[in-house]
Amino acid sequence: MTDMGHIVIKNLRKEYIDRRHKRRSKDEPNECIGDCVLVLDNINLEFCEGEMVTILGPSGCGKSTLLRIIAGFDKPTAGSVVINGETLTGPSSDHIFVFQHNALLPWMTVQENVALGLRGMEDKEMMKEQIQEHIELVELEGFENHYPYQLSGGMQRRAELARALAVNPDTLFMDEPFTGLDFLAHMKMREEVVNMHEYFEKTILVVTHDIDDALIMGDRIVVLSGRPAHVKLSEKLDFPRPRSFVKNTELSKLRDEVYLMLGVNYAV
Ligand SMILES: Nc1ncnc2c1ncn2[C@@H]1O[C@H](COP(=O)(O)OP(=O)(O)OP(=O)(O)O)[C@@H](O)[C@H]1O
Ligand SMILES: [Mg+2]
Repeated sequence: MTDMGHIVIKNLRKEYIDRRHKRRSKDEPNECIGDCVLVLDNINLEFCEGEMVTILGPSGCGKSTLLRIIAGFDKPTAGSVVINGETLTGPSSDHIFVFQHNALLPWMTVQENVALGLRGMEDKEMMKEQIQEHIELVELEGFENHYPYQLSGGMQRRAELARALAVNPDTLFMDEPFTGLDFLAHMKMREEVVNMHEYFEKTILVVTHDIDDALIMGDRIVVLSGRPAHVKLSEKLDFPRPRSFVKNTELSKLRDEVYLMLGVNYAV
């Protein structure tokens, strides 16, 4: 059985220490005193292969920190991350691709940017087909020969998505992928991410502060508490797609619960 994109997070703890005033308790070396900031506190999670997981939590609670640790860019203070059965010891670029804004090379066309992800492919005909497939998936056909500056912000973001997918990682990480987009571009891009997830069946971790995005997109929702973050909820979302809060009262009820969990008394 292949096990690609399977992630287990065990007893993860992260504290940042101000190096200028590093102080630790002699009796309890794991206790953080003085100028330590405890960010993640005993996080245990498991993500299945092909699952789209949305991670919600208040600002500053440690979402980006958690993503950086799972990507291997930052080390936990305690605990471990096991990816595809192997304990993570450093950046795992073989398995993970981090979706970033402004990742397009400005001197390359959309086609050339997407082709970057497919470097090394020997069959040039197949490469051309795959580039086109990715461009069509994000609905950018007709813009193959455009440069990034000739695209709108939303189109650039979708071209970045096509480029990320072309890399064909087991897992894709997206930290606030819709930031800075207007409402319609946000909706469009969200739809693209859901479509491409259905199409490629990759494990995708999406950090967001938007409760609606988390519930509309996720196969699983994770809600973190304020700092130090611990897991308040990790729940499978078995709602049919396309999802609608108006048509699905269970989903709408869950939205109210998540709002309350995040300290907002929300009622529609
Ligand atoms: N390199 C660092 N050194 C010290 N403290 C850090 C570092 N990186 C993050 N922090 C602290 O860790 C906490 C969590 O930061 P993080 O960026 O993970 O939060 P976040 O949940 O992604 O927030 P936001 O929703 O605003 O993006 C913050 O209090 C931040 O100040
Ligand atoms: Mg963040």
